[in-house]
Amino acid sequence: MSNAYPITLHTYDAVVVGAGGAGLRATMGLAESGLKTACITKVFPTRSHTVAAQGGIAASLGNMGKDSWQWHMYDTVKGSDWLGDQDAIEYLVREAPAAVYELEHYGVPFSRTEEGKIYQRAFGGMTTEFGEGPAAQRTCAAADRTGHAMLHSLYQQSLKHDSDFYIEYFAIDMIMEDGECRGVIAMNMEDGSLHAFRSQATVLATGGYGRAYFSATSAHTCTGDGGGMVLRAGLSLQDLEFIQFHPTGIYGAGVLITEGARGEGGILINSEGERFMERYAPSAKDLASRDVVSRSISNEIREGRGVGADKDHMYLHLDHLDPAILAERLPGISESAKVFAGVDVTKEPIPILPTVHYNMGGIPTNYHGEVINPTKDNPDSVVPGLFAIGEAACVSVHGANRLGSNSLIDLVVFGRAVGKRVPEIVTTGATQKPLPEGYADMALGRLDKARYADGGTPTAELRLKMQRNMQTNCAVFRTEEVLAEGVKNIDEIAGGLDDIKTSDRSLVWNSDLIETLELDNLMGQAVLTMHSAAARKESRGAHMHEDYPDRDDVNWMKHTACWLDDGNKVTLGERPVHDYTLTTEVEYIKPKARVY
Ligand code: SIN
Repeated sequence: MSNAYPITLHTYDAVVVGAGGAGLRATMGLAESGLKTACITKVFPTRSHTVAAQGGIAASLGNMGKDSWQWHMYDTVKGSDWLGDQDAIEYLVREAPAAVYELEHYGVPFSRTEEGKIYQRAFGGMTTEFGEGPAAQRTCAAADRTGHAMLHSLYQQSLKHDSDFYIEYFAIDMIMEDGECRGVIAMNMEDGSLHAFRSQATVLATGGYGRAYFSATSAHTCTGDGGGMVLRAGLSLQDLEFIQFHPTGIYGAGVLITEGARGEGGILINSEGERFMERYAPSAKDLASRDVVSRSISNEIREGRGVGADKDHMYLHLDHLDPAILAERLPGISESAKVFAGVDVTKEPIPILPTVHYNMGGIPTNYHGEVINPTKDNPDSVVPGLFAIGEAACVSVHGANRLGSNSLIDLVVFGRAVGKRVPEIVTTGATQKPLPEGYADMALGRLDKARYADGGTPTAELRLKMQRNMQTNCAVFRTEEVLAEGVKNIDEIAGGLDDIKTSDRSLVWNSDLIETLELDNLMGQAVLTMHSAAARKESRGAHMHEDYPDRDDVNWMKHTACWLDDGNKVTLGERPVHDYTLTTEVEYIKPKARVY
């Protein structure tokens, strides 16, 4: 089938798929090391979803008070509800300050303290003295547009280091040979032409799959394309049941209001005028971790203390704060509140509701960014030639719940790690053997199926069914009954992919074709999320199972590994949590009750 369409062959030392914070940091690092590097991206780099990250990036710089990487490590392990791998977490928090100073030198325009140091604000779950001291001001901010600032600086750095960008190219599938990744097949969306990128190292930095849900802070482009490619290659994904709901999406619009708003003093108030977080998290209050705050809001609404005509949302008040501080530190969300809720934040509260925001699970990797496919004999078995970083990956540093501002630091620390690791294992300009016969068959078969799909269900209709099922059956609170119904529904909905109808099939390319391919990527991850959630009989982090309300470390302190075959058959397995640290300079943090 490879001959049915002309395919242009490109050869690189390293190819990065995705140009968000992680993809760009990897691209610049790989190019800087002298490797011939390409970055393939379906949107213009500075439109990648990292642009929407607002509040900041966590690193224990200690600019606003005493801080240490050991405290950051403790908070991250506790935030993860002890599902995070502690070797990887140690790596993350130790590398974080250097990674942020690098960003500063690359030109990220951080906000400043009076002394000219990088400004840091409080974020949920970030504390001092191993949870015993006051809140840490650890989140380095460029007003409330930190991701935007980072993307622009990293794109400029990538260009400076002479990498090649393939912009508005959609990656269809990886090229696999005997268990090794040899590159990726992509379509140029401008003219429909096909391209094979042969590479010694392929780095998936494709972001999360937030759009599997109906209401998400994620951009419409967050369709888990890397996860979809990994599943079709017969490899595993990990911990998909852990979906983060950000406490403060704008009611009705889902647009993000940064946790930094609470970091600057914002408070949540119910219909009784009560600051209810004092009851749920007496110490951290509105700055408890996100799973705790989202559950508390949902519980207040369930118990009839929601606000508005239908008592179905909550208020975030910033109107008691100094308008000058709002203008200086939170200009972006002040504008979003005006545009999407018609609210002047200096005078009125913002109507908010917990909204899907982040996938803790993803493509399993070690802390070098090397992709893992667990086998019976080796739970940490590496897939040669393949790397994953950013939200697409599950290192796992976030475990069952990510702390706010730990995502941006994850992007740059592990993007940088890949930039260091790949040059250690590949040789610049090494001759690569020809690609195997039929290397593009899977990608072309998939493309044809989507292009000529002439069934009875428009892509958008099936996508909506999937999104509504995920929103209803795999939400903040879960029960045995609701999860079982969700599994039954999603299996049926996934079967609907065989009855898809793609519009305007005469065209070589159109947005419906891409949306059909994206839906295929989303669907596999939606199926596995439902099955993994139904299988986990405990409550941990973002997975709140009301029939099993307690964390069960004896039976469930383990990662969920999951695979999907061609016929949508699900296989669930497990991987041990790394209960060891990277160095002897810090001890394993033992599990205990998680209170804020
Ligand atoms: C926020 O600013 O609240 C979002 C950033 C993050 O998810 O870490």
